[in-house]
Amino acid sequence: MNIPIKTSITNVKPILKHTSSISMAICLLAVLPSVALSAVPTDWSSIPVTNLTLFYPGQSGYEWLMSEEHQSKDGKEQGYRDMKKGVDCFFCHEGDEAAMGDKLVKRGPLEPMPVTGKPGSVNLALQVAYDNNNAYFRAKWKTRNPYAGDAHPFWRYDGKEWKAYGHPKLDKEVQNGEQPGIYEDRFSIMIDDGKVSDYDVHGCWLSCHDGQRDMPNKAGKTAVKGHAILGDNGLKKSDVRKYLPSTRTSGNWADTKSRAEIDKIGAAGGFLDLMQWRAHRSNVVGMTDDFNVLEYRLNDAGKGPFAKNWDKKMNQPKYMYNKSVFGSNSTSEDQIRTASTPLTREMNASAFDPDLNWKVGDLIPEYVTSREDAKGSAADNNMAKGEWKDGMWTVVFARKFGLTNPDDKNLSEGNAYTIGFAVHDDNITTRGHYVYWPRSVGFGAEEADIEATKVP
Ligand code: HEC
Repeated sequence: MNIPIKTSITNVKPILKHTSSISMAICLLAVLPSVALSAVPTDWSSIPVTNLTLFYPGQSGYEWLMSEEHQSKDGKEQGYRDMKKGVDCFFCHEGDEAAMGDKLVKRGPLEPMPVTGKPGSVNLALQVAYDNNNAYFRAKWKTRNPYAGDAHPFWRYDGKEWKAYGHPKLDKEVQNGEQPGIYEDRFSIMIDDGKVSDYDVHGCWLSCHDGQRDMPNKAGKTAVKGHAILGDNGLKKSDVRKYLPSTRTSGNWADTKSRAEIDKIGAAGGFLDLMQWRAHRSNVVGMTDDFNVLEYRLNDAGKGPFAKNWDKKMNQPKYMYNKSVFGSNSTSEDQIRTASTPLTREMNASAFDPDLNWKVGDLIPEYVTSREDAKGSAADNNMAKGEWKDGMWTVVFARKFGLTNPDDKNLSEGNAYTIGFAVHDDNITTRGHYVYWPRSVGFGAEEADIEATKVP
């Protein structure tokens, strides 16, 4: 096992794939923050690989799973009934993944908006290690496209204004050809330490519900904004995202428990820890985001690695590319699959200048990333790096042991945790990911589906 003392952030994939200019590279180094990615293992050859067939789940949300639809045609095998008795998905479905994915990815009762040609499953080659300070995850998967999926929606200049350009592929606008499919690739893990009941048997499906984006009976903006807990007088949200059934009094997203009851569940540890490595919005700055799931998919306290690149007052982007680093102040449709497009405040950005000679079709990222601006619990995951090579992403990231923030799971040696793994591939978001049944991962624990390997 070869563990270097330091991996510099300058090892992250070059910001500029489309330039070979040495002077530009030197200029780039000069503005890079001198932060270390710490002692992340680089030699994984002796760590066992667990292959998981991640599959497309369609709209198989919790309400569907708990309904009478979830049974065999002859009614002999009743998924919904046995789930209520605590039988886990794996018990009935082990080995079904590829066939289920192939079925669910096509138009049918659980997929009203199929993405043409999308594969039903993807193999995730997973390795897990740990030392005294961190858990380490290494994930490898083949992408559908022959390029790194690190482009994300842009602002596009139409001759007068900057308008949103690019959407995920489950969106109507992409399916009817109005907008191109543009969205970053992701690798996500969602963790519980035994405090969320049924997460060990039903996994991430526990957080997937009707009313959410791209799910049946999607909640309307007005309804959400008027909702006491989620809306303008509460979380200030305008949609419904992942939540736990423990925070509701029925299977309806709107039937929330009181603020005080929800806070009590959270304080007792009844939330999930969710972190996503993002090809556009976190990779370049060597991070993943850090969320938690309770009555909503919530940001951890503080500030994560990315923010919206928009100046509401001026109705224009806040930042553009810094020409002396990026080569130009904007990018364009024909470049986004060959150039690395993330916009990073301290690396390749400068303040937006409305008076430049902008041309129709100029593109500036909708988000700006920053490692320096990230802070608090939301900035915990600051040792992550993904590299796309020969059609595969390889992502390595560390999760610290011993975190004491109230919105984090405190991982430690000697224990096992239930983890859900997911991959978003080919310009998609929400339920368009590939997922797997919940697995227990042990860090020196007696019994677990996946045993992490201790490294020096
Ligand atoms: C008691 C066994 C059992 C359990 C437990 C169970 N299922 Fe099922 N599931 C079934 C049966 C039976 C079907 C219907 C399969 C068929 O008709 O071929 C089914 C169908 C499905 C389908 C639709 C697949 C298709 O072919 O249309 C999905 C998705 C699914 N289950 C997911 C889950 C998930 C997720 C869990 C755990 C949260 C789970 N199931 C737990 C038995 C079970």
